[in-house]
Amino acid sequence: MSWKTLDDMDLGGKRVLVRVDINVPVVDGTVTDATRIERIVPTVRHILAAGGKPILLAHFGRPGGERRENLSLKQLVPTLEGAFGAPVLFAADCVGTEAELATEALQPGQVLLLENTRFHAAETKNDADLAAGMAKLGDVYCNDAFSAAHRAHSSTEALARLLPACAGRLMQAELEALEGALGAPKRPVTAVVGGAKVSTKLELLGNLINKVDYLVIGGGMANTFLVAQGINVGKSLAERDMQGTAAEILAKAENSGCTIVLPKDIVVAQKFEAHAPHQTLPTDQCPEDGMILDAGPESVAVITDIFSKSQTLIWNGPLGAFELEPFDAATNAAALKAADLTRSGQLVSVAGGGDTVAALNASGAAHDFSYISTAGGAFLEWMEGKTLPGVAALEQ
Ligand code: 3PG
Ligand code: MG
Repeated sequence: MSWKTLDDMDLGGKRVLVRVDINVPVVDGTVTDATRIERIVPTVRHILAAGGKPILLAHFGRPGGERRENLSLKQLVPTLEGAFGAPVLFAADCVGTEAELATEALQPGQVLLLENTRFHAAETKNDADLAAGMAKLGDVYCNDAFSAAHRAHSSTEALARLLPACAGRLMQAELEALEGALGAPKRPVTAVVGGAKVSTKLELLGNLINKVDYLVIGGGMANTFLVAQGINVGKSLAERDMQGTAAEILAKAENSGCTIVLPKDIVVAQKFEAHAPHQTLPTDQCPEDGMILDAGPESVAVITDIFSKSQTLIWNGPLGAFELEPFDAATNAAALKAADLTRSGQLVSVAGGGDTVAALNASGAAHDFSYISTAGGAFLEWMEGKTLPGVAALEQ
């Protein structure tokens, strides 16, 4: 890969501007999932150990270019200090005099957090002047925010072109995991794509059929493919206007030697509700008033058999309505099989996307996966084969 890493940079005594993604969920002032914070610790510690001064640049939520106190990054300072085991100072702006004075006062062993970059409307326009203001605060730029790399913003794109730039440890790990899964993977490669809608994952499906050997389609989007095959799905969620597109994907997959796997049996209920009365039926027997909420055990057997034959697995999206028990059964069973195969060294498994990671955490399988991405949108765009601006800017 053609970008520099922290190992290529001279960090001693340097002010290192680190773009991180600490866009973590906060409920009533408490961070409810600190994963993204934990995952940037190696980068921050590496810089501190090398005698550099980490200065963190980040966005938080979508304040739309206005200063909004509830989206101030200041509230994350205690969580960051706990994670880094180092004092974290805070500057109330990411450019300007206050930020400049704070960087000058920073002592070795301390970390500086700058205020939400999106308090400036210029940030999301990839504005060059804003980037120049940020560049004044550092000697080196390190991008560790893979999960924001699909955004061409001042702090992720323009800034990378103004200072000696490198990828942080998390960025490196994310790119290496994805490259291993889709770039030059060990075959056979299987992708699991689930979720509600075909329309939001069209480009993804189009790219994957050229790259993977098996494509397992689950969740609501599988229903659209069933409709395309002339199967009645009753009241199930399906995009009936997308059936032509689904039929095209099926035809293209056949031409490119990719096997598309759709449910063989279905779990059907009358209501979209946890513990709704339900029955397991062959896929072509969904009653008129029925709603498909999960794949059945025969489908799971087919899927896990494919996992056993595979060397690489990339997973985005649940197989059923995983947020409603017991309609998480197919997702859980398949995830646990992937975890087993990974643990015994037979499979490299990579997963990403907000819902996906929530589903894999709930199943207890996540910690055995080879790699769990911190990214949602960026993971999807990478899987779609798109160039991520934040990564491309490091490659110059
Ligand atoms: C995310 O949470 O997915 C990233 O931080 C990107 O946030 P955004 O979708 O608001 O750009
Ligand atoms: Mg997002």
